[in-house]
Amino acid sequence: MPTRAEDVADDDRRWSPMSAFLGLRSRFLDEYLLDSCNGAGEAGVRQVVVLAAGLDSRAFRLPWPHGVTVHEVDQPRVLEFKDEVLDRSGAEPGCTRRVVPVDLRDDWAGALVGSGFDPAAPTCWLAEGLMPYLPGDAAERLLTTVHELSAHGSTIAVEYMPRMGSIFADSSAASLAAGFGIDLAALLSDADYDPNARLAELGWAVDEVTAAQLADRYGRTFDDGEIAELAGNGRYLTARKR
Ligand SMILES: C[S@@+](CC[C@H](N)C(=O)[O-])C[C@H]1O[C@@H](n2cnc3c(N)ncnc32)[C@H](O)[C@@H]1O
Repeated sequence: MPTRAEDVADDDRRWSPMSAFLGLRSRFLDEYLLDSCNGAGEAGVRQVVVLAAGLDSRAFRLPWPHGVTVHEVDQPRVLEFKDEVLDRSGAEPGCTRRVVPVDLRDDWAGALVGSGFDPAAPTCWLAEGLMPYLPGDAAERLLTTVHELSAHGSTIAVEYMPRMGSIFADSSAASLAAGFGIDLAALLSDADYDPNARLAELGWAVDEVTAAQLADRYGRTFDDGEIAELAGNGRYLTARKR
């Protein structure tokens, strides 16, 4: 996957909407995390859980308020790789950072509590780049567990795109992934799961915005074309447990 502008051929416009999409979601979710922790007119949340954190570097990058702990949940090998790279570069987190190496199909709630997570305190949850890969039953288990572990005042942000597997497979975006040797459509789920409706049913107050609306909000335009249309369909819900 190209990581620098110069790695992309000048006449290849396919990456432009993808980079806009990644920038928009990063900024929106950065703002969500800091707003939750800084608290609007009340004591902010001090406990953050990043589900399927991958190479998320927000524990290092964001200006966290004092006293925040960020728990990063992902597979052991992914977190080991990330820590090796961060150690080598001498990176220092701007919060208390706890890695929680566990498979989300196993008892991740137990692992989280073992890493110092307190279910009695409000939590700020993040699920970025995760839902589009989960079959419906796995998505349901994940949200139910989050709900059970959430004290009142907890918040969550979820990125989701229902039926992404087949939508992606039928689009020219599939050729981007093929270019770096991955059948991405096969990794994506075709579930029609609606986390917005489910969280509302569980009593959370839910808001939602699409990537296209974020582009308007932040004054960024998507190029025209099918990939731009696809990227603009990304949905971001934020919710608060009442
Ligand atoms: C597309 S990445 C998203 C990473 C990050 N949240 C982001 O948006 O940049 C998906 C992540 O899910 C993690 N993941 C996939 N299956 C998992 C599982 N069964 N248990 C824990 N993590 C898993 C992968 O290791 C990977 O880091």
